[in-house]
This record gives sequence, C-alpha cells and structure tokens, in this order.
Amino acid sequence: VQKSVQLSTGYQIPVAGLGTWQSPEGVIGKVVKTALDTGYRHLDCAQGYGNEAEIGDALEEYYKTSSLKREDIFITSKVWNTCHSYERCCQSVEDILHRFKTNYIDLVLIHWPHGFQEGGELFPRVGDQIQYSDVDYLETWKALEKKVEEGKIRSIGLSNFNIAQIQRVIDNGKIKPVALEVEAHLYFQQKELRKFCQENNIVFIAYSPLGSPGSTGFWRQAHSEVNVLKDPIVLNLSKKYQKSPAQIILRWELQNNILIIPKSTNEARLQENFDLFDFNISGDDMKQLDQ
Ligand code: A2P
Repeated sequence: VQKSVQLSTGYQIPVAGLGTWQSPEGVIGKVVKTALDTGYRHLDCAQGYGNEAEIGDALEEYYKTSSLKREDIFITSKVWNTCHSYERCCQSVEDILHRFKTNYIDLVLIHWPHGFQEGGELFPRVGDQIQYSDVDYLETWKALEKKVEEGKIRSIGLSNFNIAQIQRVIDNGKIKPVALEVEAHLYFQQKELRKFCQENNIVFIAYSPLGSPGSTGFWRQAHSEVNVLKDPIVLNLSKKYQKSPAQIILRWELQNNILIIPKSTNEARLQENFDLFDFNISGDDMKQLDQ
C-alpha cells in the first residue's frame, strides 16, 4: 500500500486522512496539530461541520512553528446543501478559502446531491420537516468548475452520490469528478460503487471507516447497532497480527484501494489509526473480511 495515490488531475492524495466531523470547536484545533505531529497530511473537512475556522487557525499557527507549508497538506472541504445554486456555491468556496486562509483548496466535494432551501440555517425546517430545494446538482458542479478555472480549487468530486447521479455529472460536466466520498466499512462494503469508481478513475474515500461507533441519535439509528470493532473475525485477526481491531479494519480498507478518514479526538487513537503501514493482511485473511 502506497502512502498516497494520484488523482485524475495529477495531484497526489494521501490514502489515510483525518476525519473532522463531530470533532467539536475548542477541541479540533489541538487535534489537528496532534495529527500533523503524528504524520497526517490529509484533512477531511466540510462547511457543514461548523469547525473549519478553528482548523484554519490551527494550520496558520502550525505553519509558523514547524517546517510544514500549505503545499504539504491536502485539504478537502465540501459545499453544504444550502449552497447549491451557482452564486451561493461560488461564495461558499470563497468562504472556505477564507476560513483556511489559503488561495487554493486541494479538493472540494458536493456534500450531498440534494439541496436545502437557501438561507442562514444549516438545516432549514418548518416544524420538523427539512425544507429541500430543487436546485440541480449540475448547477453546483458548474460553479465548482468555474472555481477550478480560476485556480482556487485543484480537484473536484462528489459525496453521497449514487452511480446514476455520478454518471450524470460525468456525462454533463466539463471536468470529471476525481473522488467520491461515501460511507463504507466492513459491514457496508459498497462493492458495486467501488467497482464503478475504479472503472471511471474516481478515487473512493470511505467515511465512517470504523462504522462510526461514536455516533448517536438520528445517524446511529440509520446504522445498525452492531459494532465492526467487535466483529469476531476482526478480533481473531487482531490477535494474529498483533494489531488493534481498528488497525485491522483500516488496513483491510487500504488494501482494497479504499482511502480512509477515521475521526478521533484522542491522541492514542489518532496515532493508532495512522500506524498502518508496517504490516500486510494475507490474501486469505482479506478474503475472509471481504465476505
Ligand atoms: P474518539 O474520537 O473518542 O477516538 P468513524 O471515523 O468511523 O466515524 O469512527 C469515529 C468514532 O470511532 C469516534 O467515536 C472515535 O472516538 C472512535 N474511534 C476512532 N478511532 C478508534 C480506534 N482506533 N479504536 C476505537 N474507536 C475509535
């Protein structure tokens, strides 16, 4: 497993990054610095996570006190559902640049295919009903293409899109999506989507690569209650390879050409989740996990 792979635009993306969803303000800045100390060079962020400004501040401080420069770090961000119309999307990219205090972002994704009513709220609701918009994500894509032309984004891609939706972007856009970020893990292997991505030269990035064991509420209900970290096969292999269950799962993903962005705010687990490059899961054991 290589530490980074090439996107169809020619840029390199590190295969293991840091997930920042559900990392609260007041905590995330320190987490980012610890992750950079550990060797992480890929940060998976989003407008919708509400913590980008603190990450931007942490990076600015980090550049001052270390030899790392902006170019050494791969930053992903995502345009939120309330910014799907052309003008709002362009503005939202400008806002991302401003939060990261940079003149380019490595990768910007459309966070979800569906838009929300555009306004101040991240989740516009009437009663408990989310208010959707009917803006076509092809309009959002055009805005991202414009920002690539302006040199403000290096690569663009999609998140939470299915095959038909990705195909529509490929067929109608000027620029091909370089990456797809979706939920994927041991119990949700996304084999068909992975195959489609491979055939279309789209890098596949797994969010919730550990099955998001810390999530609660709506997101947890949408998932099963089972915990991949307690899977009996994983526990067996953990003993066999003398690696933690998380390391077995993450390594299995890397060996399947899946890029990973595990989230942690704990220093030991941040290190554990990046310490994946000194062992190899055998072909037979990979098969067990694949099944
Ligand atoms: P914490 O931040 O306290 O480490 P995912 O990336 O799949 O969404 O998983 C993130 C969740 O998994 C968080 O709740 C995180 O908690 C926890 N987690 C992250 N790394 C590990 C690990 N190595 N072992 C066990 N749990 C982990």
